[in-house]
This record gives sequence, structure tokens and C-alpha cells, in this order.
Amino acid sequence: MTNTLANIVVVGQGAMGLLWYHHLAHTNTNVTLLASNQEQLSASELKSAKYQFTPYQQLHAEIHPLTYSQSADINSADIIILCLKSFHIADAIQQMAQDINPHCLVILAHNGMGPFAEVVNLLPSQQVILTMLTTHGCLRSMPLAITHTGLGQSDIGLLAGELSSNQQTQLTNQLNNALAQVNFHQDIVKKQWLKLAINCVINPITAINNIDNGEINNQKFTRQINLILTEITAVSHTEGIELAFTDLQKMVAKVAQATARNCSSMRSDVLGGRATEIDFINGYIHRIGKKNNVATPENTRLWQQVLDLKPVH
Ligand code: PAF
Repeated sequence: MTNTLANIVVVGQGAMGLLWYHHLAHTNTNVTLLASNQEQLSASELKSAKYQFTPYQQLHAEIHPLTYSQSADINSADIIILCLKSFHIADAIQQMAQDINPHCLVILAHNGMGPFAEVVNLLPSQQVILTMLTTHGCLRSMPLAITHTGLGQSDIGLLAGELSSNQQTQLTNQLNNALAQVNFHQDIVKKQWLKLAINCVINPITAINNIDNGEINNQKFTRQINLILTEITAVSHTEGIELAFTDLQKMVAKVAQATARNCSSMRSDVLGGRATEIDFINGYIHRIGKKNNVATPENTRLWQQVLDLKPVH
């Protein structure tokens, strides 16, 4: 069968962007990387990207040539995967919008919720927009070196436009061939809320207290976690999404346990002096709560507290 989704652009030179680029480059695809700093990188680093992987605890390092996207690549892209911080998604789409062809599948891969509302207004109404939620652990150590620290999985689903079941299967297979396990979901919005709940607990608590993910399972955080999750179930209910409080509690504890030694993305951002995604995590709960008249004091407090840690916003 011919591969009709062969031209892929990965946007973003962070850990996730490089992880997807690396794995797609090993499959039957024409993959290129759109990096915000590719002008500088191409001078010194092109064709010398170094990758280190530790799936299943086995380390093997690889040097792999890196091909940067030009506007022709964006034009001919069948799939564009945006692996960016949530606050960069809308800007990136705006910059590329006129080059994206109407048949291209646009995949938003970011933490938190909110960018879709802006993105949908920047693209033609028939454009297929999907989201991808991933639990892979990955660290970028040097400008172009990554370590795959935790083998996770990815969930994808449709946010806008129409996808035939044939396209759905092709897309899922294409991504699965690169970096399994990828599952397509009809109820992706519920999955987004579940992931959001995890991020609303783990990210601010680990960032504020400067602790590893596993430490949030300490009893001293139980009351606070329960407050955060109670507010989330109330807010999601007003958006037509039913989340069970005890399921959320268990899920958060499980993810904290599974990633116990990890430094959350928000804690890393704070420690690295970078802007955080708090506006799209607890800030999103605050905004939706306000819109639907649901009080969210704990999420609002955490949103403000993290903003105070990082006044760059
Ligand atoms: O943002 C993160 O760090 C991750 O989404 C998660 C699940 C909290 C694990 O570290």
C-alpha cells in the first residue's frame, strides 16, 4: 500500500519534538524538523545531532542526520506535529497558516488545555486538527541530545474537521510504526481532561515545593490534592465532562508513583528560569470555572502562586 501520509513536519526542538523526529526518521517517511532556532543550529549542528535512548533501561546512543523544514516542506506536509509549549502553539500556527495545505493533518501535542480555541480560528474550517497526549518521559540534555527516560504511550483524537476511518487507521499505523503505543480515541476530550487533572496536581505542587513527582504522594499534600480535584470535577461537569473524583485520586497517585524520580516539566521550567504552562493548566480551570460560575479557589491560588514564582509571563 502506498504511504499517503509520508511527508511529516515535526515542529519544536524540545525533548518531545526531537523524540518524535528521531523515531519518524527511522520509518518510511520524509520527516523534517522545524526548529525556532534552526538558523543558528544549521550552522554548527546540522547532521551531527546526537541521541541517547534508554528504553527498557538499555542505553544506546545514535548519531542521526537532521533535516530542517523549509517552507516547501510545510506546503507538502501530510502531517504536522506541533510539539511545543502550550503558549507557543497559536503563534506557531499563525506563522505557518498560509503554507499549510488543506489536506494536512495538524496534530497539537502539548500539556494543558486552551490553545485549540485559538488555533481553530487560524485555520480553514475543513482543516483536520487532532490532539496527541503522551506519557513518554524524555529529557533533552544538550541542544540536540535526548534521553528517552520512560517508555509511555500516546493517545490521539480528533478536535476539528473530518477524518475517514481509512485515514484514521493510516495515521495511527504511521505513528505506531515510529513510536508505539499510539491509540486513536473517539472520546479524546475526556482524556484531555484526565491529563489536565494530573498536570493540575503534579505540576504546581512539585514546582512550588521543588520536589520530585513521587513526593506528592506524601500525606501532607492529600488535603490540597483533594481540593484541586474536587474543583476540577465540578468545572468539567459544567463542560459536559463527567470525571469521578476517586478515579482522579487514584490516577494522580499512580502517575506520581510511575514517574516518582522525575522532575515535572513545570518544576524544570521554574528551575531553568523559563516561562511555565500554568496559564493552560490551573489557569485554564480558573478561566473555565469563572466562565461557568464555579468557584475554583485552590486552582486559582496555585495559578497565582506559580505566576509569582516566574514573573516572566
Ligand atoms: O508535565 C509533566 O511533567 C508530565 O505531564 C507529568 C505527567 C506531570 C509527569 O512528570
